[in-house]
Amino acid sequence: MTAEKRALLLVGSPRGIGHSTSDRLGSIVLDALKSRDVDTEKLHVHAAMDSPTALESALAAIGAADTVILSLPLYVDSFPAPVIAFLERIVQQRIGAGRARVFVIIQCGFPEKEQNATALAIAERFAAEAGWSWLGGVGLGAAEWQHKDVALALAPLAEAIANGTAVPQPVLRRAMPAWLYRFGGNVMWRLAARKHHATRSLRARPYDS
Ligand SMILES: Cc1cc2nc3c(=O)[nH]c(=O)nc-3n(C[C@H](O)[C@H](O)[C@H](O)COP(=O)(O)O)c2cc1C
Repeated sequence: MTAEKRALLLVGSPRGIGHSTSDRLGSIVLDALKSRDVDTEKLHVHAAMDSPTALESALAAIGAADTVILSLPLYVDSFPAPVIAFLERIVQQRIGAGRARVFVIIQCGFPEKEQNATALAIAERFAAEAGWSWLGGVGLGAAEWQHKDVALALAPLAEAIANGTAVPQPVLRRAMPAWLYRFGGNVMWRLAARKHHATRSLRARPYDS
């Protein structure tokens, strides 16, 4: 790939750049693209949706990119609402149609990567409606808790992304066994209940008749 190639990372978490798992994972791929002589840029979707000026300049950046990496958290089996609104604008205005290629990273709180299947299908549908080439996507479970393994699995994907070819699925170990997730989750709920003086209400069923 030559130096004129441009890749844009869209971070779709309200936690934003520098604070979100979406940024951390997307940046692994973006940095790997940079080391392959691709010009790179990063944008926060929620900030772009904050004002008409920010939105116009974000859409212009997308129009100038060959490759878009969309990295976002799973929200209720779908995308955060500002990301949906942003993607709808892209489709309406035909931004990048016939030119842009997209690779999607979706990660969720639960440990099973399969939780992301519906959202990945939504992303692929978006690509078809926008007229963008679909390079593929990856769904990760509990990526917040995995650092080294995820970095080792994601960075090599940049090769296919830079070449514009279908991206192979990374091989990743499951973040943690189910029993450990349940154990950790229960500990966290109990600590939160203690903090809010609600330990006795943990098993309350206020809507039971
Ligand atoms: C409003 C909301 C909805 C969520 N919905 C899901 C969900 O449906 N399934 C899931 O496994 N995790 C869900 N999560 C957890 C996030 O996907 C997870 O914490 C993610 O790592 C956050 O990434 P970020 O740091 O990039 O924002 C949800 C979190 C929030 C705040």
